[in-house]
Amino acid sequence: MKSFYITTPIYYVNDKPHIGHAYTTILADVLARYHRLLDVPTFFLTGTDEHGQKVAEAAKAKGIEPIEQCETTVVRFRELWEKLEITNDDFIRTTEDRHKRVVQEILQRLYDDGEIYKANYEGSYCTPCERFYTDKDLVEGRCPECNRDVDTIIEPNYFFRMGKEQEWLIEYIDNHPEFIQPAHRRNETLGFLRKPLGDLCISRPKSRLSWGIELPFDKDYVCYVWFDALINYIGVPGYGSDDSRFSKFWPATYHLIGKDILTTHTVYWPIMLKAIGIDLPQTIFAHGWWLVGKDKMGKSLGNVVDPMKMCDDYGIDAFRYFLLAEMTPGNDASFTDKAFIDRYNTDLADNLGNMLNRAVKLIHRYFDGRIPEAGPEEDVDAQLKSVTFAAVEQMTDALGSMKLDRGLDAAMGVVKECNRYFEQTAPWILAKEKNTERLGTVLYTAAESLRIVSGLLFPIMPTKMAAMREVLGLGEDKATPKLADLSRWAVLESGTKIQDLHSLFPRIETQKNESNPTKKNKDKHKMNDGKDAPDLGVIDISDVGKVKLKTAKIIVAEKIEGADRILRLEIMVGSEQRQIIAGIAQYYSPEELIGKTIVVVTNLKPATIRGVESNGMLLAAKDKDGLHLITADGNCESGAEVG
Ligand code: MSP
Repeated sequence: MKSFYITTPIYYVNDKPHIGHAYTTILADVLARYHRLLDVPTFFLTGTDEHGQKVAEAAKAKGIEPIEQCETTVVRFRELWEKLEITNDDFIRTTEDRHKRVVQEILQRLYDDGEIYKANYEGSYCTPCERFYTDKDLVEGRCPECNRDVDTIIEPNYFFRMGKEQEWLIEYIDNHPEFIQPAHRRNETLGFLRKPLGDLCISRPKSRLSWGIELPFDKDYVCYVWFDALINYIGVPGYGSDDSRFSKFWPATYHLIGKDILTTHTVYWPIMLKAIGIDLPQTIFAHGWWLVGKDKMGKSLGNVVDPMKMCDDYGIDAFRYFLLAEMTPGNDASFTDKAFIDRYNTDLADNLGNMLNRAVKLIHRYFDGRIPEAGPEEDVDAQLKSVTFAAVEQMTDALGSMKLDRGLDAAMGVVKECNRYFEQTAPWILAKEKNTERLGTVLYTAAESLRIVSGLLFPIMPTKMAAMREVLGLGEDKATPKLADLSRWAVLESGTKIQDLHSLFPRIETQKNESNPTKKNKDKHKMNDGKDAPDLGVIDISDVGKVKLKTAKIIVAEKIEGADRILRLEIMVGSEQRQIIAGIAQYYSPEELIGKTIVVVTNLKPATIRGVESNGMLLAAKDKDGLHLITADGNCESGAEVG
């Protein structure tokens, strides 16, 4: 690949950015970061679309000039991109001179070549709203905004000869399946092109709308905002100003867009480029929309998701991860706080964060915080290695085919496999048996897998993954991964000091509103407490269900200094690692506890005992001989529900 050039749409500055804008820009950022890691010359462009009716109307509503509207709103976009650690190489504002100059040069050339001509435009016009509407926009023949009658107006305007290229465009799309993606969007464009394609009105008389770029051949008109905006994609990389840079990056590899701006990008833009005399971009990729629950997001519905707030509430990298993991590019996706928290807790806290925690703690405990030496490889080690390398390939494919959600699934699959690997190899038992060589191999293998996972996820969560790499002893110079190292094994050097880990992804605890029972429950309570039903201490089956019991494997047990009745236990409840404090020190020694599968209450509110957090309670029976832990019979796995 000679170069990689990716663009986002340039965003209207009529309002502040929302989750949809954040999604496209993060997707572009991830692909740009990935190509930079591949050492491919990369150019990533975003910016703002500042002319046209939408921006003029937003300004008018506030009683300010359009340029003031632009100046204040562009700051919101710049701030958000900075917060989200977006690594765009340039940021174009269409009110900048460098943009206006290219637009005017192109307009003049096309006019001189006869590609732009003057003719009458006939349409339905609402005088109070000062807007033209197409027949489709009208509601029972009246203005969709104010419901007044519209006038048919004939107005001289300038047109771009678009219609004559209809057959050429259909043929081009047919011959270049990669040009419009995904395939269902290509079909949508081809469907649109089945109807006759007219010429495009590219001017607005200043008497009606003056906020735009003046036509160089008629100062009474400004350019239609779309004709002006699309040109940013070629102007910024150097069309008309820097030929060598332009030929380095053009044709663009990807124009990322939302599905609602498909026609402008896949019909107007290719025909404009043909008239200008340059090649078409390689791929226009249209993603779906973010819905909120099942609803369209909109200001009037009051459900707009603010990306700044999401970052403040949950962290930047987690937000980046969620957006990419949750949307299959091309389809719509649904945002809810619950979906966010569920995915965060499952993927990041319980799976990735926990696994890293387990490996790091064991290396600290048994190898003095240094990467151990790996001994002979066994089948289970080879299995984890092969799942890890398969994920590298899956991520590479996913990035090339814009299926990032699948790549993320593969990376998270490796972490799940690491957790399973620990269950199979039981390093805590190896430690108990003092089998240091095998323990070293197991911990080395897991750490290597996690190193590769941190590299795979680096473009998506740059800060958290750099932190994870530092924990694994990949000092500052190796915090940024080399892509070649993702396909190599044994990159971690034995003896390297690893760092302490401060919870990478702390679980988000949701407040279950127990004090606000549903009406049904209230009635039930009332029945139990009522005069007719004497309280015999009998409980309902639903009361039993409130206590969540699960099996858990003890992986660490130790005394707490100055407290002779309690022990600190680290347990695995499935893939989730927890710490509990148990008053069993008089009955069990730490050594005999390791490896036991016990039963714990998992939904008990965490408590602090002797300054240490206890997150759960184990079950034990007490009789005249002392205390007996309730354990699971046979070879029961951890995390199984008890009930
Ligand atoms: N200014 C034009 C683009 C010109 S590009 C030469 C424009 N701007 S916009 O601000 O209205 O929209 C920008 C992008 O946001 C579009 O790709 C649009 O699809 C996307 N989204 C708007 N709402 C969205 C969601 N709810 N979800 C995902 N993306 C959405 O159009």
